[in-house]
Amino acid sequence: MLPGCKHEPPVAPHVEEVEGACDPDVVYFQQQVLPLLISNCAVPGCHDQATGDNDGIQITDFGSLMASGTVQDGDLMESLTETDPDKVMPPPSQPGLTAQQIALIQTWINQGAQDNSCAATCDTSTVTYAGTIAPLVQQRCGGCHGGSNPQGGLNFGTHAVLSTLALNGSLAASVTHDPQGIPMPPFGPMLPQCEIDKFLIWIQDGAPNN
Ligand code: HEC
Repeated sequence: MLPGCKHEPPVAPHVEEVEGACDPDVVYFQQQVLPLLISNCAVPGCHDQATGDNDGIQITDFGSLMASGTVQDGDLMESLTETDPDKVMPPPSQPGLTAQQIALIQTWINQGAQDNSCAATCDTSTVTYAGTIAPLVQQRCGGCHGGSNPQGGLNFGTHAVLSTLALNGSLAASVTHDPQGIPMPPFGPMLPQCEIDKFLIWIQDGAPNN
């Protein structure tokens, strides 16, 4: 079956309840913290591997983050909240984390810095750019695809850039790891299927600015 066939859309909007639901009072490493670290720290040439001018600090998964010692000795939070532009992480050419995102990481540390995970309800019944795609992109992609020197020259801060990639096929190819495209995010696990479905539904809808 051809994807995009008129009568059989490859992804139909759905709501799916799953076991082991997320507790709203708990911050989960896999769902909430790791995506921020991948997008903001594992930028190519930064902390994507433990080589180069990065103090040997790799931040691409739980194991490498803990091996860096920066959670345990407080350096992670210190560098995120630093006010000196020469020391703050990420460097000022990147958009940086929002106060809310920094607070989320702090809460995760306060709760014991576990490699924890939960299964969120998947609701793709109403996918909009402003309500679904923009926040998803901010969490998962914004650190690399934002700021004054975005990766691949692509700043996703506006609808126009993302919709162009949606309509030319490269967004779908990237998030589904289609061999025709460049896999995104470039490190860490593939996006959860629910998030991939949200991208695909938005693309099928014609990538509207809604
Ligand atoms: C860790 C940094 C990083 C993150 C996070 C990241 N990207 Fe990228 N992205 C890149 C780099 C680097 C390139 C350029 C790759 C190249 O040209 O080889 C790129 C290129 C792309 C392209 C163009 C691919 C093409 O075929 O030309 C798309 C589409 C894309 N990213 C989508 C995304 C989406 C969607 C997300 C979030 C789900 C994301 N990226 C997260 C680093 C990142």
